[in-house]
Amino acid sequence: MPDDHPAAALRVTVDPKEAELTVFHCFELGATAIGEQRVGDVVELTVGLDSTAAADALAGALPMLVRCQLEALTVSADDRSGRAPLVAETIADGFRIVPVGTADDATDELTRVEIDAGPAFGHGGHPSTKLALRALDRLELDGRKVLDLGTGTGVLAIAAAKRGATVTAVDNDPSAISVAAANIAQNDVGERVNCVESDATIGFDEHDVMVANMTLSGQRIVADTPARTEPIIVLSGLLCRQVRSVVDLYPQHDLCEILSEGDWAAVTLRTAASG
Ligand SMILES: C[S@@+](CC[C@H](N)C(=O)[O-])C[C@H]1O[C@@H](n2cnc3c(N)ncnc32)[C@H](O)[C@@H]1O
Repeated sequence: MPDDHPAAALRVTVDPKEAELTVFHCFELGATAIGEQRVGDVVELTVGLDSTAAADALAGALPMLVRCQLEALTVSADDRSGRAPLVAETIADGFRIVPVGTADDATDELTRVEIDAGPAFGHGGHPSTKLALRALDRLELDGRKVLDLGTGTGVLAIAAAKRGATVTAVDNDPSAISVAAANIAQNDVGERVNCVESDATIGFDEHDVMVANMTLSGQRIVADTPARTEPIIVLSGLLCRQVRSVVDLYPQHDLCEILSEGDWAAVTLRTAASG
């Protein structure tokens, strides 16, 4: 797992409207930490990576996904490339996401999820995470088996476990699995969440609900897995314009709900048998 000293770093300059999407793509392309700063009319992202090879790969792929300027940064041992600390936030009136170590006096009616994001994606502030949490908030999860594909910090897995589900939390990034395991322990749901380092293409035992917050390319990989038979499927990480093509990947399921925030969308799909 990378420590607080990234081996390589890039400065990515983007239009503020593109910043969230760029952060999302950077994590999907291997970033281990991202700092964000508004500078005049642009946003500068300081993107930390595990290796110069990872930085080169990101620098090659990112300009095909967003309009941006890239600059390699010199990394010293003193560099810190963490994201700005978040404040506690209530999502969908149901979940309360609290950065570890933050004092919080919210009421007990909210399901509290404590997160230390470290280098992983999913501190709770990104619209794609919020939308997934809002979709989960609307489901009856008590006693259900939930599969969280691309767990990142474990935020969705922990939220579901705190609502009484037993959860399989999967990520193919070992550093995310370490962060998720620590957050699962912090939230005292270790008996309910099984954290698995694996690719999402692996078939897992039957689950009642599958949730996946990934970009379109990740969603295609997830949908291609032959045993994708969960009666309820929550997909986030979609841009609004991608909803139709992602829903079409699940011909056995009906589209039940679309949630959106800005350019981002999440969908809930169900089979007729899902009740
Ligand atoms: C956008 S983050 C979502 C994190 C968290 N679930 C949330 O909602 O905030 C996507 C996660 O999916 C993981 N991921 C991407 N492709 C994957 C794959 N093919 N198999 C397993 N995990 C994958 C990434 O490592 C990353 O942690």
